[in-house]
Amino acid sequence: MKGYKDKVVYITGGSSGMGLATAKLMAAKGASVVIFARRQQVLDEALKEIYAAGSAAGQKHACLSMDVANREQVKSVLVNAVAAYGVPDVLVNCAGRAIPRYFEDISYEQFDETLKVDMYGAWNTTSFLVPLMKERGGYIVNVSSLVGLIAIFGYTDYAAAKFALVGFSEALRSELKRYKIVVSVLCPLDTDTPGFAEENKTKPPETQVISQAARVMQPSEVAQALLKGMAREEFIIIPSMDGWFTYIMKRLLPGLVELVTDAQARKARRAK
Ligand SMILES: NC(=O)c1ccc[n+]([C@@H]2O[C@H](COP(=O)([O-])OP(=O)(O)OC[C@H]3O[C@@H](n4cnc5c(N)ncnc54)[C@H](OP(=O)(O)O)[C@@H]3O)[C@@H](O)[C@H]2O)c1
Repeated sequence: MKGYKDKVVYITGGSSGMGLATAKLMAAKGASVVIFARRQQVLDEALKEIYAAGSAAGQKHACLSMDVANREQVKSVLVNAVAAYGVPDVLVNCAGRAIPRYFEDISYEQFDETLKVDMYGAWNTTSFLVPLMKERGGYIVNVSSLVGLIAIFGYTDYAAAKFALVGFSEALRSELKRYKIVVSVLCPLDTDTPGFAEENKTKPPETQVISQAARVMQPSEVAQALLKGMAREEFIIIPSMDGWFTYIMKRLLPGLVELVTDAQARKARRAK
């Protein structure tokens, strides 16, 4: 991305956490931002913050209620969004959530919903918007997780969805180059957001111990790292050095990473 002035940005999950931090940063750089999430009251509050971050002449921000998991609703909301605010130059698929639990405690319904929100959600928006975006090119960011590169204890459903999102993004990046649409995948570590606070309520003790190894980031730091990665058109954007280190170790020495996480899980079980 060369700059955000006069650009239209759509962000799903833009009413909270990393999506909101990204919306505010892009607005501060001159973009017009449209955010999507389910709860209207939270969207309205977020919209005020986005206007406070950037509201120069010509900038028009908006919020629309939409459940990314509902394909028909996504289509009808996006038809209206495009008519009112134009085809996006940037699409950030950030809507998502994690409910960490032991595998035996994850119901089929939870697995199904995780896939619907964290993976199908990105498919639903992207499949509607790519035919429109390819006319003039653009940028698509899918928000996965470090858990989309390194599966961690307690995240069987979430890792399945976030790994799928990385694979989807890699194939999509290759296909959309011919339309000058760049695709990146953002893989954050633990970040201090309302979603993270919810996630902490169900984490098994083993997951808590493994997670404690890395620093918890702020959403604004993640947004800064995202924009830096987008400026370089990086495919995998990992917003911290700890994250890069863990990812590289996992690729080079997968057995060692498994040994360390197994030892952390045993320690957590002993402490129970
Ligand atoms: N925080 C972390 O530690 C962390 C680490 C790695 C990756 N991630 C990923 O980063 C993304 C953002 O996470 P966050 O921590 O910033 O979360 P957050 O603070 O909980 O925000 C999630 C956003 O997604 C929206 N959302 C959730 N389900 C939705 C649905 N079905 N349809 C439309 N919007 C939906 C929420 O609004 P409504 O509830 O009103 O719909 C909200 O705007 C997620 O994809 C998450 O998996 C988070």
